[in-house]
Amino acid sequence: MSTRHRLIELLADGHFHSGEWLGRQLGISRAAVWKQIRTFSEFELDVHAVPGQGYRLSSAFEPLDAELIRQPLSALVNTRLGQLEVLCEIDSTSDYLKRTKSEHKTSVLRACLAEWQSAGRGRRGRRWISPYGANLYLSLATQISKTTLQSGGLSLAAAVALLRALQVCGIENLGVKWPNDVLYKGRKLAGILVDLSGESGGPFNVVVGIGINLKIPESAARAIDQPWADLSQSGVKVDRNHLAGLILEELVRATDSFEEKGLQVFIQEWNQFDLITGRVVELHQDTETKITGIARGIDASGALLIEKNGVTSRYDAGEVSVRVA
Ligand code: BTN
Repeated sequence: MSTRHRLIELLADGHFHSGEWLGRQLGISRAAVWKQIRTFSEFELDVHAVPGQGYRLSSAFEPLDAELIRQPLSALVNTRLGQLEVLCEIDSTSDYLKRTKSEHKTSVLRACLAEWQSAGRGRRGRRWISPYGANLYLSLATQISKTTLQSGGLSLAAAVALLRALQVCGIENLGVKWPNDVLYKGRKLAGILVDLSGESGGPFNVVVGIGINLKIPESAARAIDQPWADLSQSGVKVDRNHLAGLILEELVRATDSFEEKGLQVFIQEWNQFDLITGRVVELHQDTETKITGIARGIDASGALLIEKNGVTSRYDAGEVSVRVA
């Protein structure tokens, strides 16, 4: 781990630490500590520097730890997840898994989490704001046969997996907005991004990326252009590594059962949490095309049904984004 990341870890408890003490831990001078700290704004880390007291992060956080993440995993998922990497910084956990090859048999799954993403991606080319240590950014690489991989259905199954993990933690007031948003009290708490690639005839390589807000720092919040929520607003104390483990447990199980049985085993749960059915929504296909209609739920493949002038049409997730009008 680089000196910069070790320094962040020393400050992660949110307490004051003197420059001298920090320098001693890292084998560098006080001036070098200050020089490093000045670069932290790049990570959207807010640092208080108080003469006589030292430095502290405005928000404490629990550093990611692969061993702790594995703790809540069942024996089955623990074995399936042959590779679980925790990185300090990366462009995007999903892009990282896409460009790195598995050293294992294809039946072995790979997961990656990062403290910070310099180029976190959302759906439809949007940026996913990824301040350091504040939230969870995780991706899982798996393979799914082409027959089960219907139009966007996997993103719905992943949302159900996320709901399950959050409910295990005791979080209430959850909902989903087609195709990939998990909401807390009607505001976006988490997003899911599914990337597919594959050669003809073979199965799809799938990377499911999940970003979930735990505690958005003020500086990062200003850059988010939609109503958002984070888990700190729920009042439930959530252990970051434990939650990451619970999400991976549910995600591995969900992708496995999606591969085996398709979307049908998730539809009832999806419907239970669906917040847009019956509401007037706007569908944006590209910058110019907008369709306004009433959301009528999803079909068996996970496509959204929209009623307009008495006619119901289906839309696949890849094509559109939805706003409640
Ligand atoms: C969305 O709501 O638009 C999807 C957001 C997905 C964000 C996650 S964070 C981990 C993974 N890496 C990325 O670059 N994106 C996904």
